Amino acid sequence: MNNHPLSVAEPGLDLFAEIERLRRDLNAVILAHFYQEPDIQDIADFVGDSLALSQRAAETEAEVIVFAGVHFMAETAKILNPDKQVLLPDLEAGCSLADGCPPAEFATFLARYPGHKVISYINCSAATKAMSDVICTSSNAVKIVQSFPADQPLVFAPDRYLGSWVQRSLNRDLVLWPGSCEVHEVFSEKRLVELKVEYPAAVVAAHPECPAGVLQHADLVGSTSAILKYARETPARQIIVVTEAGILHQMRKDNPDKELIPAPGNDESCNCNECPYMKLNTLEKLYLCLRDRTPEITVDPAVAAKALIPINRMLELSR
Ligand code: 13P
Ligand code: SF4
Repeated sequence: MNNHPLSVAEPGLDLFAEIERLRRDLNAVILAHFYQEPDIQDIADFVGDSLALSQRAAETEAEVIVFAGVHFMAETAKILNPDKQVLLPDLEAGCSLADGCPPAEFATFLARYPGHKVISYINCSAATKAMSDVICTSSNAVKIVQSFPADQPLVFAPDRYLGSWVQRSLNRDLVLWPGSCEVHEVFSEKRLVELKVEYPAAVVAAHPECPAGVLQHADLVGSTSAILKYARETPARQIIVVTEAGILHQMRKDNPDKELIPAPGNDESCNCNECPYMKLNTLEKLYLCLRDRTPEITVDPAVAAKALIPINRMLELSR
């Protein structure tokens, strides 16, 4: 779907200057995820991982929030700011994890686990969040699970790979919803091992949305912020990066002298390490959404009120 059916930027327009002007006029803040294209990251007021972005969204005094990320991120910002306008440059920017956990099926699944508390990864819909006790991101998932007594049975949804990494890290059983990120699940263990042979001095930094076979070869498993921190701090001169390729922009800026080696997916012919949803946002769509103040995120107020409780619980536990 084209969210701006009749809208294109006027030819020859300086999009950077226009975005600056509109941001000022509207008292808008632009929040961007590390997987966005470089121009968007560079013009954003703040670039971060999912946790930092939701913390920023919770604190902002801007009247309009433009979320350069995917739908569940903008939706979380709207739940935290029901009275503000939240814009997403392309409303089709979804996520395979959120789409793979339909709320009605999730409710049926949860009914099979009475007495369980429910931890949901932030990559899910508002309706799924509304059925959860607490939300987590990849940077605080271990801490959130640890906040429950050891004998408390837990459901973890929707990412089975993140959930199983937490299980292995804490040696604790979790009931896992069988979802996955379509980008991270196709990193190839075989090709990663071949890269390690080719670059024996390289360290490996991987996102916990990857399968266990890939993660077992990583020196660091962490969120996008944790991966960037590790890349800055490691004395290694070569880093194999096992996450979405958008992160390389900040990593190159931080580490001009290090060699960054993006890990390949299992298919030579595709750009499998690029998230097709994140990449729907472009600088032109960012300009258009500020100019036209659409597409706007809306959330059913009753669902939003329920979803706010586990989001706030996460923010409190993450202070
Ligand atoms: P983080 O930035 O929180 O690590 O999340 C990665 C991701 O897949 C966002 O969609
Ligand atoms: Fe969802 Fe994966 Fe894309 Fe992140 S990278 S938005 S988890 S599909």
